[in-house]
Amino acid sequence: MPELSSRSNVSANKSEVFADVSALPGWQLWRGRRHLLDVDSITADELSALTAVAARCKRFHIRNCEPLTILARKTVANVFFENSTRTRSSFELAARKLGATIINFDPKMSSVSKGETISDTASILIQLGVDAIVQRHSASGSAHQIARELAGRVQVINAGDGWHAHPTQALLDYFTMTEVRSELKGAKITIVGDIKHSRVARSNIALLTSLGADLHIVGPPTLLPLELDKLGVKVHTSLAPALEGADFVMCLRLQTERMEQGLIPSIGEYKRLYRVDHQKLRMAAKDVRVLHPGPVNRNIEITDELANDEKHSLIAAQVHNGIAVRMAVLYFLLADEEKS
Ligand code: CP
Repeated sequence: MPELSSRSNVSANKSEVFADVSALPGWQLWRGRRHLLDVDSITADELSALTAVAARCKRFHIRNCEPLTILARKTVANVFFENSTRTRSSFELAARKLGATIINFDPKMSSVSKGETISDTASILIQLGVDAIVQRHSASGSAHQIARELAGRVQVINAGDGWHAHPTQALLDYFTMTEVRSELKGAKITIVGDIKHSRVARSNIALLTSLGADLHIVGPPTLLPLELDKLGVKVHTSLAPALEGADFVMCLRLQTERMEQGLIPSIGEYKRLYRVDHQKLRMAAKDVRVLHPGPVNRNIEITDELANDEKHSLIAAQVHNGIAVRMAVLYFLLADEEKS
């Protein structure tokens, strides 16, 4: 059996992308999942299997091989009620690279604009032969709702629901960090900014605390949800103690579209206190890496110089890894066979 845990030994040969993955400890657990709605119950074995498969998909993707055929009989629908660049495009690329048919459903051009409900919309897509719905919606819990109401008829992948969860973003953040440091247990990871409105923060908190990371959360008090400290994280309102000795710093977008008026005094004040730049980063670990799930409000959450600094920034890697991680997720949830 090929070495599955070592990325350096992973073959990029098309026929070997999914060879022997059923031997991975997390394989059965993934195969037992019908949907991916959040990261709350994902186990260490599942993360390990995801990492191994995503690493193989990344090699395959980098070599720009011909599409695989493992999902040739599957149809995936991207159903995005909220805007997206990274998630939607990378799910489309991931599905195509696995041989699936993908349709990009545009709610603005659909009967949703005439009042059709999300459940009725999903039912229509099922009647059209869709096997899986990748859904983004502004309502927290909407992916769970679809999965519950249409149980057994379609598989649902949550591509972001309101403030609640963004599971594939947390998985790709995890994968990207483990390319730098294989063991995140004990790593000091600091999440900075608008935690209150962030599904990315919630999914990362759930995943990283389950792994035993030393997780620190920092932001203006008005952008920190209540009872955050009960989630096993350390909470700060000033940046310095949160950055001190940090191995990874994840900046989050200020979600002005979800904010009521007056949650921060001014953008200038936010930048002075919470924008991460080279100077503030000096108190972090020497080889600290910075992340941002995007989209970035330029020069507000992180300076352009730092975002573009290849020594510290993993932002481009996050985008790139999104394809491989979503290929792995689609493969685990949808593939009928073990080999292409
Ligand atoms: N990180 C993220 O979800 O980006 P998009 O909104 O562009 O998909």
